Amino acid sequence: MGGHRAVQLIREIDALRSAVATVRADGGTVALVPTMGALHAGHMALVAEAKRRGAHVVASIFVNPTQFGPNEDLSLYPRREASDARMLEEGGCAILWAPDVAVMYPDGHATSVRVSGVSDDLDGAARPGHFDGVATVVAKLFNQVRPDIALFGEKDYQQLAVIRRMARDLDWPVEIIGVPTQRDADGLALSSRNLYLSDEERVAARMLPRALGEAAQAIRDGKAVAEALGAARERLAAAGFDPIDYVELRDAGTLAPLATLDRPARLLAAARLGRTRLIDNLPVLPAD
Ligand code: PAF
Repeated sequence: MGGHRAVQLIREIDALRSAVATVRADGGTVALVPTMGALHAGHMALVAEAKRRGAHVVASIFVNPTQFGPNEDLSLYPRREASDARMLEEGGCAILWAPDVAVMYPDGHATSVRVSGVSDDLDGAARPGHFDGVATVVAKLFNQVRPDIALFGEKDYQQLAVIRRMARDLDWPVEIIGVPTQRDADGLALSSRNLYLSDEERVAARMLPRALGEAAQAIRDGKAVAEALGAARERLAAAGFDPIDYVELRDAGTLAPLATLDRPARLLAAARLGRTRLIDNLPVLPAD
């Protein structure tokens, strides 16, 4: 494909281990970019950051059933492996790890990883069990690939915090790298789930980054946090978001609730437009 070295598509763990050993023998580090496929520029920014760091890139595509709730979109989740593989190849990925469910979770699989505290509220409360599923599959991916670095988008900010906590707690020799959110021209964070939005919902969706941006600015300017969050909720409701799961200011590292901007913070929101649940977040730094 156009001068790019072909990406190796691998579905079995033994083959993965020997392919990773072969690229490792070339020298340099191994980077893991975990995904659920339906790739977009946000995922490709993770691959590009790994390449910029000089790493051999292993991308995984696995639509992980254990992180979907019973009424969530597992069966609808977009699957487009052939075009994903082409994008990864053009991005310079060495290996595409795409196991079947039976390889990831063979009969009798009984182990789950739970990261308490940082997993408990926000998306953890709105989607019970979600972060246990994420932590479990990421733990398995770390053991399967044994990367030196692993890259995750800041769009899933709580997920990134959960994975950082897990890697630290379990002494994994892997550096976790958060990559800033990629956005469309109107500010909407790129997400595979944006594919579910109707044209009308896609227009309304731009209120999510806008309301967050306004609240972040108001908080930086000294407005009371509760008031700024209330105003953001009102703007989202007026744009048609229903329900609004949360709009919250949190400690940027621990995700503990913050009533005032007295340390680096993150403003996080999740809300539904029709059948699509959107999340977004922005940094909010106190003035020096
Ligand atoms: O962010 C995602 O796409 C998924 O949660 C991840 C990290 C690949 C685990 O399934």
